[in-house]
Amino acid sequence: MKRIAIFASGNGSNAENIIRYLRDCPAREATVAVVVCNNPSAGVIGRSRALGVAVEVMSRQEINDPTIMGPALERHGVDAIVLAGFLLMLPGFLTSAYRDRIINIHPSLLPKYGGKGMYGCHVHEAVAAAGERETGITIHLVNERYDEGRVIFQASTPLEPGDTPETIEAKVHQLERRHFPAVISRWLADF
Ligand code: GAR
Repeated sequence: MKRIAIFASGNGSNAENIIRYLRDCPAREATVAVVVCNNPSAGVIGRSRALGVAVEVMSRQEINDPTIMGPALERHGVDAIVLAGFLLMLPGFLTSAYRDRIINIHPSLLPKYGGKGMYGCHVHEAVAAAGERETGITIHLVNERYDEGRVIFQASTPLEPGDTPETIEAKVHQLERRHFPAVISRWLADF
């Protein structure tokens, strides 16, 4: 069984959805071994623990320290990493150690609205301000640069003139809920 770590910084709706999906998947080919969180007050901590998943709350310094982060992932036997609303840049030793084994979800149709500072509501505000006719989600491999790894999945949703950052966010969350766990599952089956 493949063991994944989910890295998250906030509310954790994606983390919860992934944990439930893999737990309830009849084939049981993968499991969430641990959730790594850099924010001690994030909702993802309670959501994950309530589902029986171990959580490591770690500071930015600890995450960036190979002598702390490395053993933590080894302890949980982690084969692959999923970034689900994780707002820190990953340290180089992790992107090297898990090359092609880290994926991220981004709440826009990359390369549009990606890069430093573009996360969560900032993305939806920019999409609304530009009057875009559609937005969506991008799931991509993670390398040393923000939002630039190979895209493995995109899905789009139409926008109406009256859409606000909040309604856009709701549409994007719906796409995330529908697609992210299944894309992770197919991706894991490849290695
Ligand atoms: C999600 O919409 C995810 O796509 C986004 O943060 C949100 C986290 O929601 N990620 C980024 O913006 C990364 N650049 P959640 O905590 O409820 O899963």
